[in-house]
Amino acid sequence: GALIILAIIVAYLFGSLSSAVIICKLFGLPDPRCHGSNNPGATNVYRLGGKLPAVLTLSFDVLKGMLPVWVSYFFGIAPLFLGLIAVSACLGHIFPLYFQFRGGKAVATALGTMFPVAWQMALLLIATWLLVFRVSKVSSLAAIITVTLAPFYAFWIKPQYTVPTIMISILIIWRHQANISRLRQGSEKQIKRRN
Ligand code: G3P
Repeated sequence: GALIILAIIVAYLFGSLSSAVIICKLFGLPDPRCHGSNNPGATNVYRLGGKLPAVLTLSFDVLKGMLPVWVSYFFGIAPLFLGLIAVSACLGHIFPLYFQFRGGKAVATALGTMFPVAWQMALLLIATWLLVFRVSKVSSLAAIITVTLAPFYAFWIKPQYTVPTIMISILIIWRHQANISRLRQGSEKQIKRRN
């Protein structure tokens, strides 16, 4: 019991580390929370600073989701609770304790939480994102379609994780409200290739 609660808290605290904000600061880039799409995520860091800071943001956001679930898995915590630990990491990313609770959309963090328990699913999600992105060049659309399919993938590959996957998908779609209205108006921008 205590171990699970500790893991949930640690996952939230890890999730709260906003890689985008930290890396933009280190690279001398503008604050991603008030430039570009105003989202502290790898996509927006790419807009503001190009490939290197974006790849670093993506990697650290994936890692911070992966680590708490991985460690918990090794401690023998049951799947249901591993799912809650994953949700907690995503909530940390969305409502970060150290960054005025102004977080991102948790796409990368959610992906990270999948690797330790369902790597096949993680690979399928990456493939889906890449396919939609290759066709559309729109990061948000790739994320929305990917997380919409995620519960079906879970049900198929790792049914014990279907419920937490649904919870995370709902959170991510809810965080994409502004993107969804831009997509509907046809004003969501494609990602322009840069350095
Ligand atoms: O992962 C976030 C992505 O789906 C959308 O980011 O900056 O285009 O709102 P952004």
